[in-house]
Amino acid sequence: MNKYCIANWKMYLNQFESIEFFNSFLKNNFDKDVKIVICPSYVNLFQSEQLISKYDNIYLGSQNVSCHKTGAYTGDISINMLEKLDCQFTIIGHSERRLYHDENNSIINKKLNILNESSINPIICIGETLEEKNTGKTFEVLSNQINQIFSNIKIHKEKKYILAYEPIWAIGTGISAELKIINSVHNYIKNFIKDIGKNYCNLSLLYGGSVSENNASDILEIENVDGFLIGSSSINPEKFYNIYNQF
Ligand code: PGA
Repeated sequence: MNKYCIANWKMYLNQFESIEFFNSFLKNNFDKDVKIVICPSYVNLFQSEQLISKYDNIYLGSQNVSCHKTGAYTGDISINMLEKLDCQFTIIGHSERRLYHDENNSIINKKLNILNESSINPIICIGETLEEKNTGKTFEVLSNQINQIFSNIKIHKEKKYILAYEPIWAIGTGISAELKIINSVHNYIKNFIKDIGKNYCNLSLLYGGSVSENNASDILEIENVDGFLIGSSSINPEKFYNIYNQF
C-alpha cells in the first residue's frame, strides 16, 4: 500500500512564504518509502513545482479543481490546467469546501468522474460532524458519502485513489480523534470499500484532523492508516518534516 504524507496549506502561505518553506524543508533527507504531496494555493503551484521537480518522492497537489472540463466559469481552474502544471494530485470534497462553498457529494462525484479520466490522482475527503458523531451516525454518514462520491465511477487499476478520513470535529481544533476511533473507522472504511467492489489494492486511506509531531507516531501504529492529510502542522517546515520522519 502506498504511504502518503500530504500537506494541505489551505489559504496560508503566500509566494514568498512558500519559498521560505521550501528553502528550509528541502534541506532534509527524503529517503523513506513515503510520498510527500504539497498542496499550496493555486497561485503558488507553478513556483512550487519548479522547486520540487528534482525530488523523486515529493509531488505537487492542488486543493481543489473545477467540476467542469472547460468553459465560461470565471475564477475556476480546470483539470487540464493542473495537468499542464505537472500537478499529480488534487484534493476534492474537503470539509471547508463543503461548508463554505456548498460542495455536496454530487459535485464531488462529478469532480471524481473527470479526474478519473485524467492523469491526476484524487485525494477524496470524507468525515462526519460532531453532531453526527454524537448521535451515532458516523458509519452511516461515511458509507453514504462513499457511495455517492463513487457512484458510477469505474475504478482504473493504474490510478491511485486516496481517501482521507477527516472527522470535521477534529480539523483545526488541536484535538485529534482518539486512537480507538481512528482504528474502528479505518477498519470500517476499508471493509466497506471492499464490499462495494472498488479496487481495494490501489486505495490508500489517510487520517486527517489535528495531526501533529506529538501524535503522528501513535496514529501510524494503527493498522489501516496509510498516512496523513495535514493542515496547520504542514505550513511549518520543521513540524512537517518531524511528522514525515515518524513513518
Ligand atoms: P488540521 O487540518 O491538520 O489543521 O486539523 C487538516 C485538514 O483540514 O486537512
